[in-house]
Parts: sequence; C-alpha cells; structure tokens
Amino acid sequence: MAAPQTFSLLALTLSLLALASTVHSHNITQILADNPEYSSFNSYLSQTKLADEINSRSTITLLVLNNGAMASLAGKHPLSVIKNALSLLVLLDYYDPQKLHKISDGTVLTTTLYQTTGNAPGNLGFVNITDLKGGKVGFGSAASGSKLDSSYTKSVNQIPYNISVLEIDAPIISPGLLTAPAPSAAVSNLTGLLEKAGCKTFAGLLVSSGVLKTYESTIEKGLTVFAPNDEAFKDDDVPDLMKLTQAEVVSLLEYHALAEYKPKGSLKTNKNKISTLATNGAGKYDLTTSTSGDEVVLHTGIAPSRLADTVLDATPVVIFTVDKVLLPPELFGNATSPAPAPAPVTAPTPSPAEGPSPTAASPPAPPTDESPESSPSDSPVGSANSKSANAAVAVSSPSLFTALVTLVAIAVSVSL
Ligand SMILES: *[C@@H]1O[C@H](CO)[C@@H](O)[C@H](O)[C@H]1NC(C)=O
Ligand SMILES: *[C@@H]1O[C@H](CO)[C@@H](O)[C@H](O)[C@H]1NC(C)=O
Ligand SMILES: *[C@@H]1O[C@H](CO)[C@@H](O)[C@H](O)[C@H]1NC(C)=O
Ligand SMILES: *[C@@H]1O[C@H](CO)[C@@H](O)[C@H](O)[C@H]1NC(C)=O
Ligand SMILES: *[C@@H]1O[C@H](CO)[C@@H](O)[C@H](O)[C@H]1NC(C)=O
Repeated sequence: MAAPQTFSLLALTLSLLALASTVHSHNITQILADNPEYSSFNSYLSQTKLADEINSRSTITLLVLNNGAMASLAGKHPLSVIKNALSLLVLLDYYDPQKLHKISDGTVLTTTLYQTTGNAPGNLGFVNITDLKGGKVGFGSAASGSKLDSSYTKSVNQIPYNISVLEIDAPIISPGLLTAPAPSAAVSNLTGLLEKAGCKTFAGLLVSSGVLKTYESTIEKGLTVFAPNDEAFKDDDVPDLMKLTQAEVVSLLEYHALAEYKPKGSLKTNKNKISTLATNGAGKYDLTTSTSGDEVVLHTGIAPSRLADTVLDATPVVIFTVDKVLLPPELFGNATSPAPAPAPVTAPTPSPAEGPSPTAASPPAPPTDESPESSPSDSPVGSANSKSANAAVAVSSPSLFTALVTLVAIAVSVSL
C-alpha cells in the first residue's frame, strides 16, 4: 500500500500551505500577553521598543524572565540600561528545547541583539550556553571568567525556526552592563555628538536657528533625530537654504526630528505616517518609511533618504545620520519638481526573474521621487507602484498554490 507515503506527502503539502498563508510575522507582545507571569518583561519590551526589533527579525530566541526574576532589573535602572540587559536575552539564532540539549561539545557562544547595537564593548554582546550535567542548561556572559548564573527553566512558545521563547531564571549580566552612564550625560551635548558624527552643518543650523532648544525640550518624553551628514548639504538637489525665511529654516530643521523614541527596529516595522516636530496639522510635514532587508529609507514625498548610522541609541533618545537632507513638500513641493529625479542608485533593482516584463508594465518616469518601493505618501506614483507590487504578490500565491495542488495530484496518483 502506498497510503503512508500519500499521507506524509499530503501532510507536507498542508504544512507548506499553512506556512504560505502565514504571511505576517510574529507579535511578541501578543505571545507574552497570554502569560501574565511575564507582564513586567513584556511591558519593558514595549517601553524600550525591543518588541518592534524582535518582530522585525526571524530565526531568533528570546530568553524571558518571569515577574520575580525581572524584579532585579525593573525600576532599578534607567530604561537605556534595561534595554541593553534585555537585548542580551535576544539570541540571534533559533534554539528550541531540543536544540538546547544537543549543543555540540556541550558549550557554544551565541550572538545577541546587544552585540548588533554597537553599545556592547568587545565580545560582551555574546552569550555562553552550556549544557551542564543532569540536563541543566546554563547561560552566562561570554566575557572570560563569567559564571553561568542563569539557567533554563522551561519552554514558553515556539514558532518553528522563526522565534523560540524560553524562560530562564535570572538575567544574564555582562561586565559593566548595569553601570553604563545614564543617557542624560551623553545627550547633554547634542551638538557635540552631531559634530563628531560628521554632521557639523546640521549642528550649526540647529544652534543658529534656536531649534536645538525645541529638540532638547522633548528629550524626557522621547526624541528621534535624523541628522543629514555634511555631504548631504552639498548635494545639488538641496535648495539654497539662504533663500528660505527664518520660519522656513525652523520648519526644515524641525522636520528632521520626532517627539518620540523610534529606534531602527520601530522604523523597520513602521507602516504609518510619522509626525515630525514640524507637523502642524493632519498630514502636514510627515514622513513614511520603507524597508529593504536591514536598510530603512525615509520618504518625504520629494526624495528618499537612507538611514545611515545610529549615532546614539539610549532610550528614550535615538540619533541617526541620514544621507540626504529631508525635503518636506510643504516647503519644496513645487520648487524642486523640475530638478532631475535622483539616480536610482539606492533603489533595489528587482531581479530579472521576479520583475515584471518590460512590455507589460513600464511605469512612467516619476516626476519627482523615488525608489520603486515608493511609500503611500508619494502618490500618485507611489500608489500606482504599490498596486503593481500587490499584483506581483497576488500572482505568486496562486502559482505556489498550483504547485501544491500538483504535488497533491502526484501523491494521489502514486497511491493509486
Ligand atoms: C516566519 O517569518 C517570516 C518572515 O517574518 C514570515 O514570512 C513567515 O510567514 C513566518 N513563518 C511562520 C510560520 O510564522
Ligand atoms: C501585537 O499585539 C499587541 C497586543 O495584542 C497589539 O496591541 C499590537 O498592536 C500588535 N502589534 C502588531 C504590530 O500587530
Ligand atoms: C562557557 O563557560 C564555561 C564556564 O565558564 C566555560 O567552561 C566554557 O568554555 C565557555 N564556553 C565557551 C564556548 O567559551
Ligand atoms: C560638546 O562636545 C564638543 C565635541 O566633542 C566639544 O568640543 C564641546 O566642548 C562640548 N561642549 C560641552 C558644553 O561640553
Ligand atoms: C504645488 O502646485 C499646485 C498647483 O500648481 C498647488 O495646488 C499646490 O498647493 C502646490 N504645493 C505646494 C506644496 O506648494
């Protein structure tokens, strides 16, 4: 009888179908919300925006602390320190309980989200996982001489190969983690930070216009800065700032900051229009974002600007450099239209295989902006493009479906 093969093929097919229909990624806030014993941990994931970062990644393991174990951190340190401590619990690899107990040689160093932030000195963003005697698994900092102070207690949830949530009994503390200086010290010299990051022109404008004070006034509540580097101000596409009124310069500079904490992970998962400090009414002076891999692009409606470096990420303040001055349509909408469209260097070129055939849909050259992945605010060009993007998705799903149906058909015919 061929029945067993048929069933396993069918099972494979069904699970592939299930995978295909789960288009959206995980929501860690939702996963932990089902477990009130992690409410404190979950709340800090949201406050520090680590939840967004976790949701934007796959193949990760989150080590969670229950409310009791979280008590040693909660409320005892600045948010920026707690964020670092929790980042060390986001392993950039997938460990389910089985894999945890099958570590080759019984010990391994694994990289964490903390290592990717640039805040971790040396190898302090790595975690040592060691299979101890008696089925116990210990976790500790990778720093030499560190003890394995935390232990695996139980599995909380797994979405295979995307995210595994495991409970451990104590935070992993790397040397210096809890004694990092409070961000207020780092942030107190905003212009100094910007100058060091290669944004002297921008820093100078903030001071001369007085907008620096507006930035500083929102630091407590949250501040995100998109600082164009000095090269960006030399760009041919940048209109002559000398021709702007004082009020327009203020709006332009306020357009480069948000009165909220939006680190990279949050920008990556963002789907909405983002209000800036210049926003003075619905739909005014806002930004949209698009993501390609690890890259984030800001869209003003006139020209895209790529997020370059993170100068500082100290909850609730984050400072990025961007490679283009952000030009709000409210100031430059019609003035820059005749300017040549920026070369599509930053635009991801679709591979010939998945791109539409040139005859089928050759979109008209955009009059102003932008990359093929234009955001909704860049309409009408943007909306047309996003429609064709949706169409591409719609086409690929049925073809997957057809392939699966064919598989089932083969399975059935084999069994006959
Ligand atoms: C895993 O994550 C990827 C990317 O986020 C997503 O496309 C896929 O549907 C997810 N799989 C499951 C089973 O959730
Ligand atoms: C994740 O789940 C939480 C709690 O249910 C919800 O408030 C939040 O909007 C969800 N986030 C996303 C990105 O869907
Ligand atoms: C992990 O820590 C243990 C105990 O300190 C140590 O014996 C082991 O060599 C470490 N593992 C790695 C891969 O460094
Ligand atoms: C701010 O930083 C800059 C550059 O590091 C430095 O030159 C300046 O003296 C600092 N200002 C204050 C008030 O600390
Ligand atoms: C651009 O020009 C159009 C018509 O010429 C006008 O309706 C619109 O308000 C202008 N936009 C800006 C931002 O000045």
